[in-house]
Amino acid sequence: MKQYKKYAAPYWYAFILGPILMLVEVAGEVLMPKLLANIINVGINYQGGEATGKGISYIVSMGGGMIALALVMMVGGIGGAFFAFTAATNFANDLRKDLFFKVQSFSFANVDRFSTGSLVTRLTNDVTQLQNLIAEGLRMLLRAPGMLIGALIMAITMNARLALVVLCVIPVLVLVVGIVMKLAFPRFTGMQKQLDRVNSNIQENLTNVRVVKSFTRENYEQEGFARENSALRDRAVSAMKLMITLLPIVTFIMNFTTLSIVWFGGKQVLNTTMEVGDLTAFINYVEQILMSLMMLSMVLLNSSRAMASSDRIMEILNTEVDLTDENAKHKDLLVKEGKIEFSHVYFKYYKDNEEWVLSDLNFTVEPGQTLGIIGSTGSGKTSLVSLIPRLYDVDQGPNGEGKVLVDGVDVRDYSLKNLRSQIAMVLQKNILFSGTIEENLLWGNESASHEEVEEVAKAARAHDFIQGFPQGYDTELGQGGVNVSGGQKQRLCIARALLNQPKILILDDSTSAVDTATEARIRESFHKELAGTTKIIIAQRISSVEDADKILVLDDGKIAGIGSSQELLQTCKAYAEIYDSQIDRKEGLA
Ligand code: CTP
Ligand code: MG
Repeated sequence: MKQYKKYAAPYWYAFILGPILMLVEVAGEVLMPKLLANIINVGINYQGGEATGKGISYIVSMGGGMIALALVMMVGGIGGAFFAFTAATNFANDLRKDLFFKVQSFSFANVDRFSTGSLVTRLTNDVTQLQNLIAEGLRMLLRAPGMLIGALIMAITMNARLALVVLCVIPVLVLVVGIVMKLAFPRFTGMQKQLDRVNSNIQENLTNVRVVKSFTRENYEQEGFARENSALRDRAVSAMKLMITLLPIVTFIMNFTTLSIVWFGGKQVLNTTMEVGDLTAFINYVEQILMSLMMLSMVLLNSSRAMASSDRIMEILNTEVDLTDENAKHKDLLVKEGKIEFSHVYFKYYKDNEEWVLSDLNFTVEPGQTLGIIGSTGSGKTSLVSLIPRLYDVDQGPNGEGKVLVDGVDVRDYSLKNLRSQIAMVLQKNILFSGTIEENLLWGNESASHEEVEEVAKAARAHDFIQGFPQGYDTELGQGGVNVSGGQKQRLCIARALLNQPKILILDDSTSAVDTATEARIRESFHKELAGTTKIIIAQRISSVEDADKILVLDDGKIAGIGSSQELLQTCKAYAEIYDSQIDRKEGLA
């Protein structure tokens, strides 16, 4: 609750005016039957087959009063609803914005914990549930209790004995609603969870629709989706069944009560201890009392639904971002040289795992040098380079604290912004965004000129094929960069990384889809144009890293050898084996 305060605070006026204006409407509603009773009792006063009341002028003035009251009620009702919706929509807007910012601040490890589908549901559907509850709650907050109390007072003052009937019914109604609510809450929670799964399913299938099709898995995926979707329907139906049974039960209780009132009240009228007009008004009041209870129970029921959503929203807000630069010692420090040092680095993704993904890594890369990394799949290459821009943090190893240093300073002592702005990383699984090619390249540096964009595109050997498109640099890319080839995409991603003139450039298997001749030309332009940039190149092909200053051979998270290709051939068996297998194949093909 406390955490929601800041989203409500800016719209405090709407949060107050909404319920108050609704109260105006309620006051009118409660007075209305009284005026009606006056018309019947005083204006008409139908006795012994004859109207003996004050007559038409009295009836008109009372009727005029009723119309005036109805107008006031209308203003109250419209105003109340307006402010309630203003409050609710603004609250939801700010909350959604904050949730989005929070998710953006998540570390890789944080994101791994939630599925994307679940995050989408939480930011949309769950926030909407909360928004609906606020809009409804603000309108009902004072209205329902106001109506209940107002109508009860009017009923008791009008005829205390008859009011006893109502007082007997109320506990029964409360009990029924209580039971329904208790049953409903777990069903709503289950429903939201199932909605998560449906959304995750949709999301995964739509993003990977190409893979689904290439494996002709459509039928299988359709079945899977149908299953999740039916489960959602079943859960929704089971929750709604409860809500639906509630309404007829309450209506039955209401009708039964009205009948009792007519029965007991009718007797009083016959005994002339009660006036006809009062009986009419009384029935109105009883209806108002039961209606207000009904409204209260609806709000409570919906709030049990919204509570389930609120818990899920809170889970995001309360997630501790486990990778921040709050304790950085040198927030203003910039990366100037690009020297990289690993000292006793240990790392694993899941802290309870016994096995290390990386263990005891020690090596140095001097500014401007090129380090090649080679190793079998799953050996930890991606994990190793992720530690440099702090996508993940080093763990406490068995022999003391490991460190990754850039320019001799622990990466945890830079501000994340300064560190990452100087380290460009082309991720193994790279993504382009919808927009033009030029817009995508500008991600690397928004203020770059078109000439600079062209320059990096040339360096990454992308310029020629971009020029080949009819729209050139203004070619629209589909979501995820679907309309360029794998190798073209990789070259665009490299160009994007170069635009910032980073001090450190990391390429994680980024030329795997580029032919060897083009790759050689890319390496050549790196050599010429990025002389001062420290380069780390992860590759599967020996030829991609052969001419690097140093090659690091990774095996099961450990360094199997480090040195130049010549040195490794002498000293590192693993390297010699990979070398032989690839050279052999080349010769075999030739
Ligand atoms: N791993 C993990 N959680 C992740 C990423 C990786 O548990 N989010 C594990 C993998 O299962 C693997 C190990 O960490 O056993 C090393 O993974 P990675 O560094 O990605 O291996 P690479 O050498 O980069 O493998 P590849 O050549 O296939 O890219
Ligand atoms: Mg990898």
